[in-house]
Amino acid sequence: MAVLEILEFPDPRLRNKAKAVKVVDKSIQKLIHDMLETMYNAPGIGLAATQVNVHKRVVVMDISPDQDQPRVFINPKITPIEEQTTESQEGCLSVPGFYEQIMRYEKINVSALDKNGQAFELDCDDLLSVCIQHEVDHLNGKLFVDYISSLKRQRIKKKLEKQHREQN
Ligand code: NI
Repeated sequence: MAVLEILEFPDPRLRNKAKAVKVVDKSIQKLIHDMLETMYNAPGIGLAATQVNVHKRVVVMDISPDQDQPRVFINPKITPIEEQTTESQEGCLSVPGFYEQIMRYEKINVSALDKNGQAFELDCDDLLSVCIQHEVDHLNGKLFVDYISSLKRQRIKKKLEKQHREQN
């Protein structure tokens, strides 16, 4: 297993649209292991392959309090169960240190493949629902900062660019 580098906003590679996984083979399983290690190491509760510069529709997640219940979603498809939306605070490993209130569907149905390539379906709400919507956005090249005002987004962009310059 390996800890992978996480791309940070405004890296243009975060804007790539990920492609569907055709076969869940050994290389996808290795990617899943590396993504889980990267997420736990960060630490974070969700990670999309896009964030580690792999443009395949793979998401890992763990919202359990002890971080011992990894979840894997391959080719996830979201369907809102109700039109009802709700606002909650979101952060992102690709936008470190910034948190904003973001509006999402409250209840969704997600269908996906698991790490063995088996199809499954899940109704979710609360944090799991928010997290899946956030991660599927990543696969579509979208970030939570796209939902806030352009003024705030520019401010975050400038601060992160400054940090990146100082790191190099
Ligand atoms: Ni994120």
